[in-house]
Amino acid sequence: MNHYRTLRAALTRKLAGSGLIHIVGGTPQPRNRDVDYVFRQNSDFLYLTGVEDPGCHLVLDAERSREILFVPRIDNHHRVWEGHVPSPTEARALFGVDRVMYADELKKVISRRKIAPKAALRDALDDLRACKTEGELALMRRASAVSGAAHRTVMAAARPGMREYQLQAVFDAECLKAGMKHLAYPSIVASGANAAILHYRRNDAILKSGDLLLIDAGSELKGYAADITRTFPVNGRFTRRQRDVYQVVLAAQKSCIDAARPGIVSADLHVHSMRIIAEGLKSLGLLKGETDGLVENGATRLFYPHGLTHMLGLDVHDTTGGKRRKMPNPTKIPVRFVAKLEPGFVITMEPGVYFIEALIKDPALRRKHKTSVNFAKAETFLDFGGIRIEDDVVVQADGPPLNLTCVPKEVGDVEAACAR
Ligand code: GLY
Ligand code: MN
Ligand code: MN
Repeated sequence: MNHYRTLRAALTRKLAGSGLIHIVGGTPQPRNRDVDYVFRQNSDFLYLTGVEDPGCHLVLDAERSREILFVPRIDNHHRVWEGHVPSPTEARALFGVDRVMYADELKKVISRRKIAPKAALRDALDDLRACKTEGELALMRRASAVSGAAHRTVMAAARPGMREYQLQAVFDAECLKAGMKHLAYPSIVASGANAAILHYRRNDAILKSGDLLLIDAGSELKGYAADITRTFPVNGRFTRRQRDVYQVVLAAQKSCIDAARPGIVSADLHVHSMRIIAEGLKSLGLLKGETDGLVENGATRLFYPHGLTHMLGLDVHDTTGGKRRKMPNPTKIPVRFVAKLEPGFVITMEPGVYFIEALIKDPALRRKHKTSVNFAKAETFLDFGGIRIEDDVVVQADGPPLNLTCVPKEVGDVEAACAR
């Protein structure tokens, strides 16, 4: 039984008695006259079939014990311009489904039949997609391995004087050479102060000796994403100040990875990371006061304004697991991802410290945090940018979390990787 068949069977069991399950595959989206955006299959469709071609449908009919994949009927015009598309007979063998029909036959199969309501279908899919099966983990391991190797190549390739997009090209090329057809999200390649722009995408500045480079990039395999960030010195050697901040972020990241066990609430892990970062920023003279207060009053968020973790899977910010997993946030910190960790969850761990001018110079924030934040010192870091370290981690039933990311992150290892 291929792993897609197992997942289809699980979804059918979950929605027993609700009617036909109808999943609509993605369709090409026009970009301009004769050009479409690069096609990427709908994630639910990938989850259940692995089919990466556009214009398909899937119908799971529990009542009659059959599953039908519908593929587009192509004509000669299509054959001339787009090439061959698997025929129903070929698709049946290729994708391991009971039956394949043409998409123009869909109506007659589903008309007058009860269709499972969309909300129930959404919830069932979210519920199932949260815990990854061995088949899914195999794809994620490969996506991580290739993306990790590309990060290592980027570290070795970086030189002062290059443009950020030249490193983006190195990353993309390494992934493509290994057969990864898509990136999981637009790469962030941010040198110097650009690293303090959380969704920086221009990627066109010149790398300067003495600056750090933050690269957040990952590719996907059959839709399964890797999401990896490293921050390293452009000239291969951390300055004292860079190393000091780096060690704070690294300590928070490693401690949170160790703690990612079943039953732990993701929001509590976030607070744990904030405490370590607050302590670190205190030792660097940037924050002052009692740690819990600095976490709760928002002062730490000036330097660490994003989430620690999110689910990872077919979407880079993957489903959080459906209605039955929803729970109140047990912490006083606003966090978007609140869930009790379970074996089979794949999550990112990505604390960071940034020196963001818009926050450090904000008059209202300066008034609010005047006793907690050393703003005069923070201003001396405005050229620093920021540091984020992000790995992808599998929560396991027994034993420690499994880190899928294999890219140097200890200071000495990063410098050695840059020197290669
Ligand atoms: N690359 C997107 C994120 O880290 O969440
Ligand atoms: Mn992430
Ligand atoms: Mn990322």
